[in-house]
Amino acid sequence: MMVPLLEVKDLYVQFSVFEGELKVLNGVNLKINEGEKIGLVGEAGCGKTTTMKSILRVLPTPVARISKGEIIYKGKNILNMKPSEIQNIRRGEITAIFQDPLTSLNPVFTIGQQLGDVIKYASRYQDHLDKKEIFSKSVAALKETGMPDPERILNNYPVQLSGGMRQRVCISEALSTNHNLIIADEPTTSLDVTIQDQILRLLSKLVEKKKMSIILITHSLGVVRELTDRVYVMYAGNIVETAQTTTLFSNPLHPYTRGLMNAIPRLTGERIFEGIEGRIPNYLYPPTGCRFHPRCKYSTKECQEIFPLMYDTGNNHEVACFLYKEELN
Ligand SMILES: Nc1ncnc2c1ncn2[C@@H]1O[C@H](COP(=O)(O)OP(=O)(O)O)[C@@H](O)[C@H]1O
Ligand SMILES: [Mg+2]
Repeated sequence: MMVPLLEVKDLYVQFSVFEGELKVLNGVNLKINEGEKIGLVGEAGCGKTTTMKSILRVLPTPVARISKGEIIYKGKNILNMKPSEIQNIRRGEITAIFQDPLTSLNPVFTIGQQLGDVIKYASRYQDHLDKKEIFSKSVAALKETGMPDPERILNNYPVQLSGGMRQRVCISEALSTNHNLIIADEPTTSLDVTIQDQILRLLSKLVEKKKMSIILITHSLGVVRELTDRVYVMYAGNIVETAQTTTLFSNPLHPYTRGLMNAIPRLTGERIFEGIEGRIPNYLYPPTGCRFHPRCKYSTKECQEIFPLMYDTGNNHEVACFLYKEELN
């Protein structure tokens, strides 16, 4: 069997807030193979970013606490790594693109200084580069994202660029080095709708070309359908369904997944739900049993009391719902 590049195992994360403890991640399991393109979907507040921040070890401390679980990258548990090892992971192995390119770029340095730093630090980890090489690598990295006039852009400050151009810079930073995995957490949400899909397609094309793996988080199910190999559906701190992308879209099983697919997109990029009443639970007092049961029209006593594990319905299609236990028996 193939050993996954990254595997998140039974991950629990809590946040301490004034009111008490938010029990957000509730045993998350997911894995990504080398060269695989994964989509991660679910309503806002489901814990997608928290899962990604756990992988990168950038959860806010001491507010967030990982109480259980493992994150195995190339056979080593990221959660047990020393700061220097984590730094090497971030410089050379796993990189991320977040929602807002203005906050991920530093306003007081030029694009060239920032991109150059990323390339320099990654090269210290791999092979050493001089100034000229860093410059030509920076130009090449910007060119690859379709950025016009890259030499000039390198002398600009972030405020001088449009949102789309800034996000291209972030993509260049993420792709300019030999990272194995890119985490793209709603990378285009703050951009104009007209260029969102274009940037995501570009990102996907470059990831494919470089044989990298990607975890793509986006509101757009259309983009997930078009660009990913496999999908994880997350609800209130758990993965509730996973399958190959084509399988998931042609045969969604979990009532939550079905609800997501019936949701109607609004111009703002949010969705309103047709199939599912209600909202994400209060993480101070999450529901017992299946966390989705208060919103589920198929809910039974079993759902209210027992936490559903993932059932493999065949074809690598797994679903955490008692409806399918019956079917398999
Ligand atoms: N810094 C934080 N402090 C307190 N609670 C947080 C923090 N970050 C996230 N949470 C809690 O975790 C939940 C999940 O957040 P998040 O992982 O950002 O969801 P998603 O990315 O799926 O929208 C939030 O609804 C909130 O209750
Ligand atoms: Mg998020």
